[in-house]
Parts: sequence; C-alpha cells; structure tokens
Amino acid sequence: MKDFEVFRGRRAKFLTQLGGKAAIIPAASLVIHHADCEYPFRQNSDFWYLTGFDEPDAVALFLPFRPEGEKYILFVKPRDPKTEVWQGFLWGSEGAVNEFGADIAHSLDDLPNLIGHYLSGAEGIAFRIGKQSSIETLVLKTWAEQLEKSQRGEACPSEIVPPCPILHQMRLYKDEIEIKSIREATRISAEAHELARKITSPGMNERQLQGAIEGYFLQQGARGPAYGSIVAGGDNACILHYTANNSILRDGDLLLIDAGCSLMDYYNGDITRTFPINGKFTSEQKALYEIVLEAQENAIKAATPRNSAEVVHYSALKILVEGLVDLGLLRGNVESLIEQDAYRHIYMHRTGHWLGLDVHDVGAYRLGEYPLELNAGMVLTVEPGLYISDRLEIPKGQPEIHERWKGIGIRIEDDILVTQEKPEVLTKLALKSVDQMEY
Ligand code: GLY
Ligand code: MN
Ligand code: MN
Repeated sequence: MKDFEVFRGRRAKFLTQLGGKAAIIPAASLVIHHADCEYPFRQNSDFWYLTGFDEPDAVALFLPFRPEGEKYILFVKPRDPKTEVWQGFLWGSEGAVNEFGADIAHSLDDLPNLIGHYLSGAEGIAFRIGKQSSIETLVLKTWAEQLEKSQRGEACPSEIVPPCPILHQMRLYKDEIEIKSIREATRISAEAHELARKITSPGMNERQLQGAIEGYFLQQGARGPAYGSIVAGGDNACILHYTANNSILRDGDLLLIDAGCSLMDYYNGDITRTFPINGKFTSEQKALYEIVLEAQENAIKAATPRNSAEVVHYSALKILVEGLVDLGLLRGNVESLIEQDAYRHIYMHRTGHWLGLDVHDVGAYRLGEYPLELNAGMVLTVEPGLYISDRLEIPKGQPEIHERWKGIGIRIEDDILVTQEKPEVLTKLALKSVDQMEY
C-alpha cells in the first residue's frame, strides 16, 4: 500500500498518546437502504485515519502496553470464496498483516474469544460508547468479566474513556498527505461548480445541474458527492438543507449550488456559489451578493494563526450586519444587533467548520472557555450567507421586509488552509466576483 508509512506514523503517535490504555476502534458497518439493498459503504473516519483499511465491520486494537509486534491488532472478515463472489474481494488476516501493517490479524469470528486476552494489562479502555451496539456489548461484557476477576486481585482496566480527545486533536492538524488529498477534492469540486455555472439557463431543472456536477465528480475519479448536493433556485436557497433539487430554474432568480466531492480516500471539498440564472443580477440581488462577498473576503483574511474560528465568524458577521443596516433590512446599532442576535432571521448559521475526512470535521472549537487558536495545517470553510424569506418571525423592533427582497438566498463558501503566511483559498478555481458571475 503506497501510504503505508503515513498510517504507521499516525498509529505510532496514537499509541504513544494512549499511555497505558488500550484503544478499540471499530470500522463502520454497511447500512440498509431498503429491503436487502445497502447504501454504498462508507468507512468510519477514525478507523480509516489509523488503518487505511476499507472493509466493513473490522475492529482495530491498539495496545501500547504490550511488547513490540503485538501493539496493533486487526480483526477482519475472513477470506471466503462464497462471500467474495457476491460482495467482492476481502483482504483476510494475511492481507491485513502484509498490506496494512497489522502486527497480528485474526478473523472477526475470533474477536469474542480473544478480546479479553488482548485487553488484559490495560490501565483503561479508550472506546466510543453509544455508536455501535454489537461491539459495545462485547466490550462491556469483557470489561465486566475483568472487573469480576479484579475482586480476586487481578489487575483490570479502571475506566472506559472516549478516544476522541486524542484522535480528533490529531485529525484537526492535517498532514501533507491529507492536504494533498484535500487539494485534489477541492480542485474537482471547484471545476464542477465552473462547469455547472456555464451550462445553467432558465427553464432547466435543478437536478440536471446536480447530474452534471455529480457526473463530473465520478468522471474525475472521486467516490461521489461528499454530502447531499444542494442545487437551489430562487427561494429554495433559503432552505438551508434543500436537497430535493427538483424545481425549474426561473429567469430572474438566483441559483445557489452547495456541492463538493468525496475522494476514494474520503477527503472532501465543500463549496457554495450563487449566481444569476439568466446571467444578470437584479439590483437587489447584486446589493446582497456584494455584502456576502465582502463579508466572506474579510473573514478569509482573518483565518490566520492566533485568530480563532470565532474571530473568522465575527469578521463576516460584522460586514453582513453593517450591510443589512445600510440597505434598511435591519435597524439599529451594529454591535447591539449582533449582541441581541437580531439578524438571525436573515443569517441563521455559523460562518464555517473544520473540513477533512468528515465534511463537518472533528476537532474542538473551544478549549474550555477559550476559543481554539487557528494554526498552520488546519482546514476550515468560510461560508457566510444571507437568506431573505418570510419563514422566520422578524424580531421586535426590526423592519418588515419588502417583497422585492424576498426569495433571495445567497451563500459563498470556500475551503481555506491556514498557513503561517496568508490563508490559502483551496477553492479559488471556482470564480466568485460579481463580474465573473454575470455573462
Ligand atoms: N454543505 C454543508 C456545509 O456547507 O456545511
Ligand atoms: Mn457547503
Ligand atoms: Mn460547509
């Protein structure tokens, strides 16, 4: 396997940070779509990050307290021609050792018998409770048996703790291989947005564009969309998680597209662009678009070491609220409007999130009461928007909204790599200036 060393390096770091604890990290299982048909397999991101192993139901044990050659154990589906003829090739325990670097590998069938043996000597167990019931039952049963034995004087793990604080702190900082993959995912995603804008015209159905975008992802070798693509004409853009994508695009409306691909190694792009379906902004659309773009550019500039995601958010929010006051869509002092959340009927989400193996990637945003400082190697989205509809109540003291503004939903979203110098916009191939959105 070509990235063998990368996964080995991550495991070494994880093992060191576990101290005397054992970690149990299960793979994902297949999920039923309907009847006996399953969704395409999606590996658990923590499991993938440590193993690079892409089969369902496997279980990885990390045992830092054991001697060299017994610290990384994989339990995998056994090779079986009858299964493989239906479900495809399986690596089996031999492949798990030879191709994926396990110290020892066993068939999953042996897990119930062997797990107690491997956990003995652990000071504690790092295992995420509440996610996968079958393995959780086994872990708790094994621990309960060891607690029983401890009453007869044997040592046993004293606690079960989540592995997330260690793993997710590691995942927050992207290594070079991850950054390379995210660059690839963002390139393909940005090119798909360019393609979609160029073929858009009034009278098309939203899903024709969805097809073009997702088709491009596949043509480029990606696994598919990273999340349900949002292709939202006009007022549909004011529904934040609109994925029905089944309306006709109307002359005079804007089109909001939020789409990104997921690569075969699960790294993702996440881009939103908004543009006029007929190639010309109306004056209301343009006024709002310019505010969102300025807010976004201001927020991107703030994505530098020692600032936080919170500073990025407020850098966008301040410009959005100032712009809305200038247009008469909000009334009052900008600072007080922000303090009182009086803009929430027009801007109801945060300005971004970490991006990586998960689209809404793991990693803390705060350390206790302090916002986490950004640092080189972190990747986040910056995605301010304005959504003008009459779905939400207007806060007391704020102006009614004139019909001419309604049905305008705008978001602009880029993926940003924090560096020691200027933030790098990974998605810059997807154009966004006012002139570039018009034809
Ligand atoms: N597409 C999901 C998001 O932008 O967060
Ligand atoms: Mn998005
Ligand atoms: Mn996003």
